[in-house]
Amino acid sequence: MFMTESPNIFEPAQIGGISIRNRFIRSATHEGMADADGAPLESLEKLYLRLARGGVGAIITGYAGVLPQGRCSFPGMLMMHDDRLVPAYRRLVDAVHQEGVPIIMQIAHCGSQTRSAVTGMSTVAPSPLRDRYFSEEVPQELTEDGIRKIIEAFVDAATRVQTAGFDGVQLHLAHGYLLAQFLSGYTNRRRDRWGGSLENRFRIVSEIMKGIRHRLGDYPVLAKMNGYDGMKGGMRPDEAVKIAKMLEASGCSALEISSGTISEGLAVMRGPKIPTDALLAANFKVAALPKMLRPGFARILPLIGPASPKPYRSYNLEVAALIRKAVSIPVVVVGGMHTLDDASRAITDGAADFVSMCRPFIIEPSLVRKFEEGKQNVSRCTMCNYCTIMIEKEPLRCWNGRLPQSA
Ligand SMILES: Cc1cc2nc3c(=O)[nH]c(=O)nc-3n(C[C@H](O)[C@H](O)[C@H](O)COP(=O)(O)O)c2cc1C
Repeated sequence: MFMTESPNIFEPAQIGGISIRNRFIRSATHEGMADADGAPLESLEKLYLRLARGGVGAIITGYAGVLPQGRCSFPGMLMMHDDRLVPAYRRLVDAVHQEGVPIIMQIAHCGSQTRSAVTGMSTVAPSPLRDRYFSEEVPQELTEDGIRKIIEAFVDAATRVQTAGFDGVQLHLAHGYLLAQFLSGYTNRRRDRWGGSLENRFRIVSEIMKGIRHRLGDYPVLAKMNGYDGMKGGMRPDEAVKIAKMLEASGCSALEISSGTISEGLAVMRGPKIPTDALLAANFKVAALPKMLRPGFARILPLIGPASPKPYRSYNLEVAALIRKAVSIPVVVVGGMHTLDDASRAITDGAADFVSMCRPFIIEPSLVRKFEEGKQNVSRCTMCNYCTIMIEKEPLRCWNGRLPQSA
């Protein structure tokens, strides 16, 4: 009998017509390497070239804001809200293409997971619910007109992404940002046509997809979505499966499966320890405490509980497998996929078509090449999460669980 062999992780495959040389994708990672207008700096180009030369199959950029109100609270966010930004991105894309690697831009609106102290504008959300972490303010409930403007902003940003020459665009529907807030029953308490039933909660995404398809034809549109968000009454795997099918029906080219919200601490990028030193050095909430209380706070933190839910490895694999069974578009799995074995198994077992990684590429941009050459089969990332916290203060880098005296 003819046996079909399981795909190999180093074999090429396609996403929405984009040819990818292997099954490793660099997951979106905020780099803090944009100027005040949101245009990419030279340091970003250098980083992407290192990733491209290091063997990665495709690069997804850090999230780019579709509107100034949706900027994140960290410095140096990429922005895609203005046509004037397009030429700078075109140069970046051309440089990456010289290395033969596709590059996809992730676009986002942070909703209530940002700070008006940073954006200069009030935060917005589907419902006026105080965020657990960004708790300084109650976000404004979006009006019908406000929702329309956000849909237009996403469609316009996707158009700029195509004009700049990116190979595709990824909608950020995960991690508790604005579109995830619409999808999740925990954050979306609306009773109008944008809330309530799953169809209503999905409507904003459906309208964005319609707008993009109308404007850009069959341009590759990916989505990063949560398989669950860990909130009471929030997104569960069974609902995520339905959303995945709705995304496929709306013309989405591929799904990247993640979980958690930024407001729930280190649920998105899990790790065994609370990065206390980094919190003391860079976190805005710690900085707001009276100076004399900070050392005590640092001592108490580890006693509060574990840094993240367990397990720390391959934590979105099960839900990705569930989703992959339900759809026929490619599925990418992210989250603690830090060894060659885990990544290969995800592909050979059919849980996913691609594996994406974030933190392993911060410490080793050439990890894929090392895997391929048999030099290494485990990422050197210790999941210390200093990168996650220090991004509040400095551009992306690996701190390897230690701050220099000056930080
Ligand atoms: C410093 C840092 C920045 C991140 N920025 C983004 C981002 O811009 N967009 C996004 O979807 N996820 C972002 N993430 C989440 C990662 O893409 C990924 O989902 C998560 O880190 C788990 O994967 P990993 O175990 O391979 O790191 C970020 C994570 C880190 C550590």
